[in-house]
Amino acid sequence: MTHAALRLGATPADLAHAARLLADGRLVAFPTETVYGLGADARNGAAVAALYAAKGRPSFNPLIAHLPDTAAVRRHVIWTDTAERLAAAFWPGPLTLVLPLGPDHGIAGLVTAGLPTLAVRVPAHPTAQALLRAFGGPVAAPSANPSGRISPTTAGHVLAGLGDRIAAVVDDGPCAVGLESTIVGLDGPPTLLRPGGLAAEAIEAVLGAPLARPAQTETPTAPGQLLSHYAPAATVRLNAEAAKPGEVLLGFGPMACDLNLSATGDLAEAAANLFTHLHSLDATGRPIAVAPVPDTGLGRAINDRLHRAAAPRP
Ligand code: TXA
Ligand code: MG
Repeated sequence: MTHAALRLGATPADLAHAARLLADGRLVAFPTETVYGLGADARNGAAVAALYAAKGRPSFNPLIAHLPDTAAVRRHVIWTDTAERLAAAFWPGPLTLVLPLGPDHGIAGLVTAGLPTLAVRVPAHPTAQALLRAFGGPVAAPSANPSGRISPTTAGHVLAGLGDRIAAVVDDGPCAVGLESTIVGLDGPPTLLRPGGLAAEAIEAVLGAPLARPAQTETPTAPGQLLSHYAPAATVRLNAEAAKPGEVLLGFGPMACDLNLSATGDLAEAAANLFTHLHSLDATGRPIAVAPVPDTGLGRAINDRLHRAAAPRP
């Protein structure tokens, strides 16, 4: 894609346009009180695959689903008393909660990177609120910068980094907080998964107890990159040209196989199918063989996840 992104304002007409673009599976950057996010319809696997491609992320980290209020959040996750207390105290605002996915959550597997949990956040920025209400569904949004670059706090930053790879940016001036949201895991004892725009002390004051800290992060130089990765129960064998007896084969490109990531060899389609297909094959209880996937573009992120899935585990 080489078209320049549309620069939209915060008028109702412009936000309705932005919401239509999202509904069409396009990528729209928008301001939140923390940083500008790059939004895609979280129910549309192809749109989420395009989001990873635009950012040039070398791996699939799970994304935050943005929603306009607690009632909308509760349609997608299993709600708890602790979530209710933190939401009442801090939403809308720079706090992200990680909760178990609910039944009929409708979220694309690529958003959670195959995990059984979903990160959810209700942003306080009035323009983010208005866009989410106009769209009427969950919006997956990482920071709107190319992978490895600093997070954008103005529409100018977004256009400089991603201007030729996204449909539009909603420009509503600089972000107030300038630091990503604080992430708290609530699928076990409340845990500080990423420090951010809301002080941990404020959260601990509401909980009346200290937050747990995660045992291990992926690398000390990449805060926020968490070690939680979906891993199939079955063993995974990579670069398989055919299944050995007993194996199920996950294919890529035209070939005979049990499930195909993309019969036409389309990497975006393969990314959108990756976690769903791994889950389906894992449910057979048989070892999984995976055909080679080209290591270019989104293929790098796909191969990153396949290598993690195939790695020996403790
Ligand atoms: O302030 C923010 O949170 C911004 C704005 C745009 O809302 N968004 C943002 O997204 O910082 P991103 O993709 O850069 O960071 C998402 C973080 C990652 O560190 C990811 O590992 C974590 O959220 N995360 C997402 N889902 C998770 C899950 N199910 N379990 C654990 N961590 C999760
Ligand atoms: Mg980021």
